[in-house]
Amino acid sequence: MKAFIFLCLLHVAFSMARADYTNSNWGSSSGSSEKQDEPVCTTDQASCGCCLMQRQMHRMETFFNETFKYLEENLMRTRTILNNVRSSRSAFSVALTNANTLTCTGPFRDDTFVRYSHVFINLGNGYDVSTGFFTAPRSGVYSLALTVYSDAGAPASSLAACVNLQVNNVVVAGPQERNQQDQEDSASIVIVVHLQAGDIVTVHLPIGCFLCDDKSHYNTFSGYLLYGTE
Ligand SMILES: *[C@@H]1O[C@H](CO)[C@@H](O)[C@H](O)[C@H]1NC(C)=O
Repeated sequence: MKAFIFLCLLHVAFSMARADYTNSNWGSSSGSSEKQDEPVCTTDQASCGCCLMQRQMHRMETFFNETFKYLEENLMRTRTILNNVRSSRSAFSVALTNANTLTCTGPFRDDTFVRYSHVFINLGNGYDVSTGFFTAPRSGVYSLALTVYSDAGAPASSLAACVNLQVNNVVVAGPQERNQQDQEDSASIVIVVHLQAGDIVTVHLPIGCFLCDDKSHYNTFSGYLLYGTE
């Protein structure tokens, strides 16, 4: 008798739960099949309650299994993206020299590329210290910064702190400071550009321009990947 009452209570409890369950769209096939249970429920309430409980548990288990699978798949996808981001990190920052005394590069008879020999960081090895070239390891939006400095040596001498920042030999920015009032001066630029994997970023020293640097690092060239694109 006690068992019978218990199962009847379960039946009531699950009928209520089923109503919530259907309203919140958890399950899909509820309505029609349960209509067929009703004759059984009027003749044998005990087995009806038990059967409904089992069905409800199965449905909940399916729901939890599906949710778990969905979350697991999302976690895997997120991990893959995170690993891609980690493996394509790119940041470099270099200075012209690390000399104890002010050392100048140029002016030269021909156009040359500036080779920055002092490396602060070269994450991803995109910067080649032997050529001074930065090669974008992957396509993406990059921030590039350049500061140039020069010292004419004497107040009346001409000053020509000037370079061109180039991507694949095309000038994208040309910071310069030329005048004869100052003995020394500097100029800076910061740009954000979209680079393709393999694009080459260089700093070009035109004829007549010259840069001076020491371990204070007045001349720096830096860049980093903001985010990758396909
Ligand atoms: C839920 O997942 C478990 C573990 O994989 C499995 O044993 C069980 O049969 C699944 N249940 C349903 C209703 O799919």
